[in-house]
Amino acid sequence: MALNASDWLVYSSFILVLGVIWHRLRRQNRSQLLPPGPPPKPLIGNYLDVPKIMSWKKFSQWRKLYGDLVYLTVLGNKFLILNDMESMRELLEKRSQKYSDRPSFVMAKYMGIENNLSFAPYGPYWRQGRKLIHGTVNQEAVKKYHSLQENVTARFLRDLVEYPSEAMKHLHMATAHIIASVTYGFSIDTPSNVYFDEFAETERIVLKGVVPGAYLVDMIPQLWYLPSWVPFNSIRRTAERGRQRVSDIVHHPIEQVEQDMKQGASPASFVSDHLRESGGDEVIKQQLPWVAWSIYEAGNDTTSGTMLVFMHAMACFPEVQTRMREEIHRVVGTDRLPSFADRERLPYINAAIKEIYRWKPNTPLGAPRKLQDADVYRGYYIPKGTIIMSNVWLLSRDQDSGIDPEAFSPERFLDTHVKKTAIDPFSYAFGFGRRMCPGRFLADNSVFILVTSMVATVRISKPKDSNGVEKPFNPPYIPAGLASFPYPFEVDIEPVSDKAVAIVKGRAMSID
Ligand code: HEM
Repeated sequence: MALNASDWLVYSSFILVLGVIWHRLRRQNRSQLLPPGPPPKPLIGNYLDVPKIMSWKKFSQWRKLYGDLVYLTVLGNKFLILNDMESMRELLEKRSQKYSDRPSFVMAKYMGIENNLSFAPYGPYWRQGRKLIHGTVNQEAVKKYHSLQENVTARFLRDLVEYPSEAMKHLHMATAHIIASVTYGFSIDTPSNVYFDEFAETERIVLKGVVPGAYLVDMIPQLWYLPSWVPFNSIRRTAERGRQRVSDIVHHPIEQVEQDMKQGASPASFVSDHLRESGGDEVIKQQLPWVAWSIYEAGNDTTSGTMLVFMHAMACFPEVQTRMREEIHRVVGTDRLPSFADRERLPYINAAIKEIYRWKPNTPLGAPRKLQDADVYRGYYIPKGTIIMSNVWLLSRDQDSGIDPEAFSPERFLDTHVKKTAIDPFSYAFGFGRRMCPGRFLADNSVFILVTSMVATVRISKPKDSNGVEKPFNPPYIPAGLASFPYPFEVDIEPVSDKAVAIVKGRAMSID
């Protein structure tokens, strides 16, 4: 078969790319001892060793073979898997000066995703953004959202008892409402709201753009320079489409807040407060839309995903649900919905919330970091640019309490029940060091009020057919990428009593 000019170009570009990878691998410092790991193959390294789905399980098996630090190369990119709490603490917290950068991706950079705080390089832009966020969601500041969270929860419960088959939709609306109100001061709790779909669509682009290997060009950056007429080369077209979408979703809501402010109709929010207080500071004005989007983007699916895990657990472990309800009814009574003021007196509920974060961690491999300068740890050399993944999934499987890690059992956190309690998931589920989740207090409050109010008023169980027979129930989870939680699934919801329905409706009516 004769090759035409464009075939030649594709083949020669491919050979050039392989040559670059080979050169990079050979250049790697052979005199220093790298951490152990599966033996790499020429050129592709460990590409074939890393499963495309649930890689955290494979990484956990590798711990038995290679230990707490596992080193990999994939198409010339270096990875270090941390398999124990001590290395996560030492590197990501104590040595955070070196370990707080994020990996950079060709596609994400072009689309503008690196302006999002979660993916921004470690430096002044990121630092300024964190400062802006901190004032809004620090442990003290989040108390001002208690009534918002309680009100959203009451409306959510009303929708749930009225239309139980649409539980998934109500839940997504409720979490979106909380985070959009905190960020922009407006609600997106109607399905017709233009932002709801736009945010969701952009979220999909973002999550793909920041996963190593999701786009081939991220592993082989030289592919970016392939001319667009090369057959099947849609790299730049995809990048351009993503860039436009990201830009729209970042700027449109801010324009609306500005408009509302001019008409005197914008409630307090992260955006309106900063617009008022910035005194026209250009740096803040430029960064504000991106930081606002970072809050919404990082805070919405993580919270609703955590609630999906909760609903999955409740349907599978009805006896835990009953114990939770008994505690709420004993402490709060049945004449009102729970409130934040009750939290301290609900030890079993607090243990159950820890168990939600542990049972199926939202980010099983944390959020990747990039090592800024070469380092030496436990006698091993870690090259500059290595991407660090913290295998928090393995931490969540700890068996210290003696209770099976696959069971949903709040008892593992209660020293009244076990000799040694399990590791507190608050110490790993929200990340580590300087890049630890700034929204963890807001998130935890949302989870607390939604969980407690649901358990108090509705029974969550496996779906049944028209004859009352349980249907097979095994909700699939997002199997790869940054976050893992169930896709929307069918579940049965019924009020615990007529009185509970009356309380929910009465409470929701009082705020409408
Ligand atoms: C249950 C819900 C949530 C979970 C499980 C979660 C988890 C995480 C994790 C694991 C990280 C990466 C930390 C690291 O690199 O070590 C992170 C980062 C982040 N989270 Fe959350 N998060 C949640 C909710 C929220 C909320 C409600 C907000 C809103 C304020 C938020 C804002 C952020 C931001 C802005 C970052 C990026 C921080 C940075 O790179 O400096 N998160 N989150």
